[in-house]
Amino acid sequence: MKSSGEEFSREAYDTIVGLVYSRSRICVGVGKQVLLANRLRSRLRELGISSFDAYCALLKSGRNQAEVDVLVDLVTTNHTQFFREPDHFRYLTDRWLVDAAPELERTGTPLKVWSAACSSGEEPYTLSIVLAEFLRAYPKVDWQITASDISARMVDRARAGIYATGALNQVPEALLKAYFEEGIGSYAGSCRMVELLRSRVQVERINLFQSAYPVGLGYQIIFCRNALIYFDEPSRLEAVQRLTRHLARGGLLVIGYSESLTGLNHGLVSLQQGIYQRP
Ligand SMILES: C[S@@+](CC[C@H](N)C(=O)[O-])C[C@H]1O[C@@H](n2cnc3c(N)ncnc32)[C@H](O)[C@@H]1O
Repeated sequence: MKSSGEEFSREAYDTIVGLVYSRSRICVGVGKQVLLANRLRSRLRELGISSFDAYCALLKSGRNQAEVDVLVDLVTTNHTQFFREPDHFRYLTDRWLVDAAPELERTGTPLKVWSAACSSGEEPYTLSIVLAEFLRAYPKVDWQITASDISARMVDRARAGIYATGALNQVPEALLKAYFEEGIGSYAGSCRMVELLRSRVQVERINLFQSAYPVGLGYQIIFCRNALIYFDEPSRLEAVQRLTRHLARGGLLVIGYSESLTGLNHGLVSLQQGIYQRP
C-alpha cells in the first residue's frame, strides 16, 4: 500500500466520510485523505485488505455494521488530559459546590455528574478527585459519575483507569499520593486510580446520537467538552438539546474552551465561558 492519502479513490473517500458522519456526526471534512489513511492503514492490514475501495465494499456489504463502529472508533480524536481546561473545575469548587453541597446534604439528594465524551477517562476521574476532595466536608452527600464515549477503545481504557506516570503532570503531588496507586512489575511506569474513585465512575459506551441514552435524568452537571467541535451546527444543537433533557433544572452543561453555542437556539443561560445552566 502507498504511504500517502493518494491511495484513496474519490468514491472511497466520500463513502468513508459519509459512513463516519451518519454513525457519529463527526465531520471529517474535505482534503483529509492523508489523516484518514494514517488512521485506517493498520486496520486494513489487520483485515488483510489491500485497498480502500475493497474496505468500502466490506463496509457497505450490510453484514458489517460492527466494522462501521471500528471505523468510527479509529477516526475519533481522543486527546485529553487530567485537569484539562482547569477553570471549569475551579468553577465547580469555588462557585457551584460552595452553594450546592450544603443543600445536597440537607436534602439528602445524591449528586449526579456525567462526562459525556470522556475519551480515556482523565476528565471523569479529574471530576472524581475534585468531588472527593470537596465533599470530605460533606460526608453525607452521596455522589456518582457517569462517563461515556462512542469509542470502544476509549471506554475500555477509561474502565481500566490506568495511566502512564508521564501523563499525570497536571495532577498536584498531594492528589497523586491520595488517589493513584503506582504500578509494579509489568505495570511499572503507570498508575491506577484507586478503587475508591473507580467505584464512583460508571463507564458506558454511548453515542451522543444513538436513539436513547441508557442513563437516568436529573444530572446536576454534564460535561461535554471538546466533542461538539467535530459536529456541524444542527448536530451540535441536537446533542446539546438531548443532553439538556438529562439535566436537572438549574443544572450545568459544560463545553470546551474552544467551543461555542452562539447562534444555537438552546435555551440555556450562559454563566461563564463554556458553562451553561438549564433554567
Ligand atoms: C477530544 S476528546 C475530548 C475528551 C474530554 N472530554 C476532554 O475534553 O478532554 C473527544 C471525544 O469525543 C468522542 N466522540 C466523538 N463523537 C462522539 C459521539 N458521536 N458520541 C460520543 N462521543 C463522541 C471521541 O471518541 C473522543 O473521545
